Amino acid sequence: AAPVRHEAETSPATCAGTIDSNHAGYSGGGFCNSDNAVGAAVQFTVNAASAGSATLGIRYANGGTADRPADITVNGSVAQSAGSFPTGSWTGWTTKTLTVPVVAGSNTIRVAATTANGLANIDYLDF
Ligand code: GCU
Ligand code: CA
Repeated sequence: AAPVRHEAETSPATCAGTIDSNHAGYSGGGFCNSDNAVGAAVQFTVNAASAGSATLGIRYANGGTADRPADITVNGSVAQSAGSFPTGSWTGWTTKTLTVPVVAGSNTIRVAATTANGLANIDYLDF
């Protein structure tokens, strides 16, 4: 099936920071500009038809001077530790894909910064 797009600015997604719209190219009404702090997170709730491996796409832009690594957890378990969100530009929106284990039904996907720079700006998660 085609992925479902989960915008960072749309409930039940949460953003530890502000929803901004000052960097062109985002989808929907804006993107999550996380606080620049360790642990700053964006969280999504997605529905899986069945348990198993599933592919996520996280659209982001990083115009900072350093990678903005983040722990990506699924239902509280780390699926990717300090996953890379490489530097580029604030309007250079890029999709990071990864494969994660999911349960049937509702799953919580959390992306949490591991450095004081916080997260890259996060536009949406496709699942
Ligand atoms: C700038 C930029 C923000 C970004 C922030 C950061 O303020 O406009 O979109 O989130 O830098 O470095 O985290
Ligand atoms: Ca920020």
